[in-house]
Amino acid sequence: MVQLTLPKNSQVTAGKAYPAAGEAAHKRTFKVYRWNPDEHNNPRLDSYEIDMDTCGPMVLDALIYIKNNVDPTLTFRRSCREGICGSCAMNIDGTNTLACIKPVEDVKGDVKITPLPHMPVVKDLVPDLTGAYQQYASVEPWLKTETPPPERERLQSPDDADKMNGHDGKGPAACILCFCCSTACPSYWWNGDKFLGPAVLLQAWRWITDTRDEARNERLEALEDPFKLYRCHTIMNCTNTCPKGLNPARAIADIKMQIMKKKD
Ligand code: SF4
Ligand code: SF4
Ligand code: FES
Repeated sequence: MVQLTLPKNSQVTAGKAYPAAGEAAHKRTFKVYRWNPDEHNNPRLDSYEIDMDTCGPMVLDALIYIKNNVDPTLTFRRSCREGICGSCAMNIDGTNTLACIKPVEDVKGDVKITPLPHMPVVKDLVPDLTGAYQQYASVEPWLKTETPPPERERLQSPDDADKMNGHDGKGPAACILCFCCSTACPSYWWNGDKFLGPAVLLQAWRWITDTRDEARNERLEALEDPFKLYRCHTIMNCTNTCPKGLNPARAIADIKMQIMKKKD
């Protein structure tokens, strides 16, 4: 039975406020989701005022500033700071995106930062991606072949490589597995345990379109399932939110098409 009201212990309360020190001409306020499983309290939104003249321009810069200068207990993931690793995915100003490539000046008013929605939270802005990675493993994201390996590598024509890389560099191989798309998908919110979600389906498609792979039929058969694939109702949130400009909804539609054609 679906629970339509939030349990009391998940309701977010107003948190602490940290004003900027001294006079600052360019102050911005960041409202950041805080939750520590060891404290057994409700989550809260702490409010941090930052003088932007002392901080870098991206939302990740502000989080790093807070951690280094205001509150070292603030917890979030980041690595590359270039939009490549996918680890700083979070919800900023109501949209899932990468904190390292989201300019603070693109947000009007207070900058509200919460973890990727509808995922269990490990601490503060860190979602638990265990289930998502198990789903990723389930599509067997590696090259599967039956023919004996050639003396050197398995070659691909530039056109075939483009099927994965995209002519514009926005093919499925450019996916950084940030899960912004899956956690923006209403079908994934409701059936995330059974529906694979757009991120994982895009990865499945990446292997289906790889001309070196010899398990295409097996891969399509494994996806032909009312939940794994057909929970996608083409709502398009995934494509609209992808911070890399990729199109998982099109990939999902193509998988469905390939399954249909296989039956003809
Ligand atoms: S498709 Fe885009 S939003 Fe989804 S996981 Fe890949 S990079 Fe992230
Ligand atoms: S197109 Fe499909 S996968 Fe993408 S948000 Fe909509 S239902 Fe989810
Ligand atoms: S820190 Fe790597 S994508 Fe943001």
